[in-house]
Order: sequence, then C-alpha cells, then structure tokens
Amino acid sequence: MSELLDGQATESDLAFESALRPSNLEEFIGQDKVKQQLDLLLKAASLQNRSPDHILLAGPPGLGKTTLAMIVSNEIGSGLRMTSGPTIQHAGDLAAVLSSLSAGEVLFIDEIHRMARPAEELLYMAMEDFRVDVMVGKGAGASSISLELEPFTLVGATTRSGMLPSPLRDRFGYTANLEFYESAELSFVLQRAANKLNLTIDTEAVRLISSRSRGTPRIANRLLRRVRDYAIVSKKDSIDSLLAEQALNVYEVDSLGLDRLDKQVLMALITKFEGRPVGLSTLAVALGEEPETIESVVEPFLLREGLIERTPKGRQATPLAHRHLGLQL
Ligand SMILES: Nc1ncnc2c1ncn2[C@@H]1O[C@H](COP(=O)(O)OP(=O)(O)OP(=O)(O)O)[C@@H](O)[C@H]1O
Ligand SMILES: [Mg+2]
Repeated sequence: MSELLDGQATESDLAFESALRPSNLEEFIGQDKVKQQLDLLLKAASLQNRSPDHILLAGPPGLGKTTLAMIVSNEIGSGLRMTSGPTIQHAGDLAAVLSSLSAGEVLFIDEIHRMARPAEELLYMAMEDFRVDVMVGKGAGASSISLELEPFTLVGATTRSGMLPSPLRDRFGYTANLEFYESAELSFVLQRAANKLNLTIDTEAVRLISSRSRGTPRIANRLLRRVRDYAIVSKKDSIDSLLAEQALNVYEVDSLGLDRLDKQVLMALITKFEGRPVGLSTLAVALGEEPETIESVVEPFLLREGLIERTPKGRQATPLAHRHLGLQL
C-alpha cells in the first residue's frame, strides 16, 4: 500500500503527531457521541472518587485511539503506562506491568487483540477483581500465589474488535467505536495543524485536502505536510487549492483519496473475479496482501464510501466503484 494513504503510522508521522495531539476532550475534534459518553464516564468516576471503568477503543488506524487514551489519563490527572499486545507474549510480562501500577493509573494496551492467550486470561481477573495469580517456582514445586493490584483503568485499543474474545470484550465497561471523520471535521484538524506549522492556507485548499484524506486525521496531517513540501519547493508562501491539487496529483492521491491498494481491491473484484462475490482470503491471496490488512485497513473505508458491499457470500464492488474507476457495469 502506498505509504501516503495508509492510515498506519510511519516514523515521520510519529514525530509530527506528538506535537499535534489534542491533549483534552475539548480540543479533540469530531466523534461527538464518543466524546460525550467518555466525558460522562470520566465525570461520574471523578465525582465518586474512583477509577473510571475500563475502556475499549475500536476503529481503523489513525482515527485517534492513542490520542484518546492519552486524553483519558490527562482528564483524570493520573499517570499513563503504555504497552502493546505484541510485546506481551507471556502472562508474566503482563503480571509485571500490572503489579507495578500505582493506584488510579491508566494502563494503555495498544493492539490488544494481538496479546498472547495466557496473558489474556490473566487480564480477565485483573480487570474484574484487581488481582492476578502468578506461578512461582518450576516443575513439581511450583505453586500459584495471588497478588492484589491497585485499582487501575485499562484502556485497550484495537483495529479489529471482532478478533477480541468475548470474555475480554465483556469486561470493558465502555466501548467506543470510532468512525471515519466527516470532511468538515478534517478541515478543522487541518486548520489546526496548519496553524501549528505556521502555514498560510486558504479554506478551499483545506477543503480539497480534507476530501482526499480517507476520513482519517493522520492521513489529513500527512497530506498537509506533502502539500507544504510542494509549496516550499515551488517557492510559494501561501497554499491555495490549485497548489494543493497540483501537489496531491504528484502523489497520485485521487479525488476520493483512494490509494493503489484500494484501487487494486476494486479492480480485482470487478475484472479478475468478474463481479462475483469474493471471500476475504481469496481476495487477499489474489493481491498478495495479508487478509488483516484488507479487512482492517482497506475495507472499512471502501464500505463507508459505498464502493464495496459485504454479502454473506463475499465482497462485491458496487456500481459506484465501476463509475469511479471509469469502468462499464
Ligand atoms: N479527533 C482528532 N482531532 C485532532 N487530531 C486528531 C484527532 N484524531 C487523531 N488526530 C491526529 O491524528 C494522529 C493519529 O491519531 P492516533 O495516533 O491517536 O491514531 P490511532 O487510532 O491510535 O492509530 P493506530 O491504530 O495506528 O494506533 C494524532 O497524532 C493527531 O495528530
Ligand atoms: Mg495508536
């Protein structure tokens, strides 16, 4: 997938993003329902002087899960520990993190669906009873001891909530399903980023970039940086829509923000499989991609734009996809 339109973070995104991350709910743009629900959850907990319930943040890459986790810890004024599913390969890794948390801390586990099974089971008990059983010793002399934990709030993030076992999903008091952003919301994100970067950009240019950002703030910020580069090299000190359009054309960002892999998926559905419904794994093999990438990165956006449909028999491109690619039905 071309890096430019992939919602997943690159090194240069990370450096830039930390400067642009909104630090409280008020500054966080869009996702109004989630914001309102989170706000209630945090306020109720604070009025009762307890840690908020565990929170699960679900949605495609780049929509603000890590940002929201940081905001939760900021809003309740407590420390934040960050770890991720793939780094927790043994129950012991998780037990060590959990037992080192101080009272009221927020533990953020990114990509929580990729945690090892035994660790997952340990987490169930920790979430529910603030307790973990750990094994001490080896072989016949091994025994298990129960450790009390300080109360904490777990914030889990996942791009694939469907992959979480239901006992884990059920232990979260609240699940926020993040949606793709409207173009108007992305315009706010862009305007804010432009101010931080000291860029002069007109509203038409902002609107153009936001309409090509795949509903994703991370991509919006990234496209803005590419347009800025283009402005610098063209020795322009302000950005208008013509300049933005020229820059995005150089990077082959099309009018809907589709990138090469999006288009390959649509082309495969339409031409290779001739419009028949196609299963995920068949599609992934045909494109030489991981099924997970297709399912969690490519499909959510194509579905939301009405370019594909998921039927019980598989995926199909819609008439809109045919039109967008200039192909006959
Ligand atoms: N609602 C928002 N308002 C303003 N900026 C946002 C918002 N959401 C995300 N961003 C910007 O997008 C960047 C990416 O967001 P974030 O890292 O939180 O995404 P993520 O959902 O954790 O992605 P991943 O699944 O790849 O971990 C942030 O650094 C921030 O600059
Ligand atoms: Mg993240």
